[in-house]
Amino acid sequence: MFAMIIFGASGDLTKRKLMPALYSLYKEQRLPEQFVVLGVARTHYTDESFREHIQPEETFGTHLHYLSMDPEQPEGYALLDQRLQALTGEAQPDNLLFYLATPPSLYGVIPQHLKSAGLNRPDTRIIVEKPFGYNLPSAQQLNAVYASVFEERQIYRIDHFLGKETAQNILAMRFANGIFEPLWNRNYIDYVEVTAVENLGIEQRGGYYEGSGALRDMVQNHLIQLVALTAMEPPARFTADLFRNEVVKVYESLTPLTTEDLNEHIVRGQYTAAGAKAGYRDEQNVAADSRTETYIAMKIGIDNWRWNGVPFYIRTGKQMPTKVTEIVVHFREAPHRMFSYPGANTLILRLQPNEGMVLKFGMKQPGSGFNVKQVEMDFTYDRLGGIPVGDAYARLIEDCIQGDPTLFTRSDAVEASWRFFDPVLDYWKEHPEAPLYGYPAGTWGPLESEALMHEHDADWTNPCKNLTHTEEYCEL
Ligand SMILES: NC(=O)c1ccc[n+]([C@@H]2O[C@H](COP(=O)([O-])OP(=O)(O)OC[C@H]3O[C@@H](n4cnc5c(N)ncnc54)[C@H](OP(=O)(O)O)[C@@H]3O)[C@@H](O)[C@H]2O)c1
Repeated sequence: MFAMIIFGASGDLTKRKLMPALYSLYKEQRLPEQFVVLGVARTHYTDESFREHIQPEETFGTHLHYLSMDPEQPEGYALLDQRLQALTGEAQPDNLLFYLATPPSLYGVIPQHLKSAGLNRPDTRIIVEKPFGYNLPSAQQLNAVYASVFEERQIYRIDHFLGKETAQNILAMRFANGIFEPLWNRNYIDYVEVTAVENLGIEQRGGYYEGSGALRDMVQNHLIQLVALTAMEPPARFTADLFRNEVVKVYESLTPLTTEDLNEHIVRGQYTAAGAKAGYRDEQNVAADSRTETYIAMKIGIDNWRWNGVPFYIRTGKQMPTKVTEIVVHFREAPHRMFSYPGANTLILRLQPNEGMVLKFGMKQPGSGFNVKQVEMDFTYDRLGGIPVGDAYARLIEDCIQGDPTLFTRSDAVEASWRFFDPVLDYWKEHPEAPLYGYPAGTWGPLESEALMHEHDADWTNPCKNLTHTEEYCEL
């Protein structure tokens, strides 16, 4: 029998993401026929009160169980083993999937306790939530712990961005079509923007966010994954290792950041109060003088034959005017400009919302003369015959059950990414006076971020223009 054990089951992620994902798999009969889900956390629940808390649909509820224990302490693990034996009816249940949805401080402790209790069996898998480490040394340490408990094939470091259909479609767009690849390089592409912003603040997660900030929360994992999907070479075959080799090659090709980059090509910001919206420093569990960044924009480069000289501008932020994740590829202008055309060709890969693609190009306006205006050719997912875009967590949990790690992060990729970003964290630590710009909640971030794009005589591609409160931008 298959058993999924969720540590941190009383938390937000379990209720909001994992349970709906499991239910959708269940409804579509994509879970093993015989399965149980065992929630584990310190909060006291019985099976019944846990089900009431989750409010599962239909018969799914009968598969849910709960064990109250402190995952930090070793004592509970013998009890966990007994409970798994009782639920599966097996003396030594092996078809187990542990999901670590706890605070990251427990990511190193739990596998060690699992090992001591003999629960690291050969068919067992473990999914670890982000963030995996908080810098390179801690990620290396964590990798070493996991390597001492499990084989790499059993370890699934989740980055739910990769579970999104739209992220996978970047690969399909690039590698299933012949027309893009010849243009996909420094000869035809001028620069690339990668944006993942949201219109919410940190909600109730001040305690977590204070120790994290935007760079650790979004950039080191999600944004850089999107850069990898955009920039990677086609793998020889679409297998887990060949695909992940290409991801690692991108990370290893990132141009190391110089002092000039750290000073001039990184803009960090923090949202300030605006209207009814609280400022970051007013949020619960946030220090009144916090210098944690809720916004970051960076210019990065990739040193290889395909991308040398093509900047990638990446940014993420909380309390922006809208929620959007998209990649904008800016092509070079026509070499000889016969017509005055105000824009260059751009290709937008929109991951959310309105998932799809837009190609922008110039066409002559009807009438006399040759007035060329920008037009759009677009594709949105809802045109795929009403098939709903699959849920990222459902896709990834199913992949893990089936033993397919392609869309999960390998240990070398985690370390290569931290290796690139560590100098930023070190620089901020060593230079607490390094600028942190305030931006009013509900705007597109510090004005200073716009300067990053000036060499292209361009602005960031903002899907909705809303640069109000301009006068309130300030250095914090
Ligand atoms: N929420 C999201 O949308 C989201 C998205 C991506 C990644 N993640 C990651 O997923 C993980 C879980 O997120 P979450 O939002 O569900 O977090 P959460 O609600 O703060 O915590 C999950 C559970 O962990 C348990 N816990 C907290 N402190 C503990 C401690 N010191 N010792 C033992 N257990 C402790 C708590 O249960 P008990 O108090 O009952 O033990 C809590 O319900 C985090 O690492 C987060 O970074 C979350």
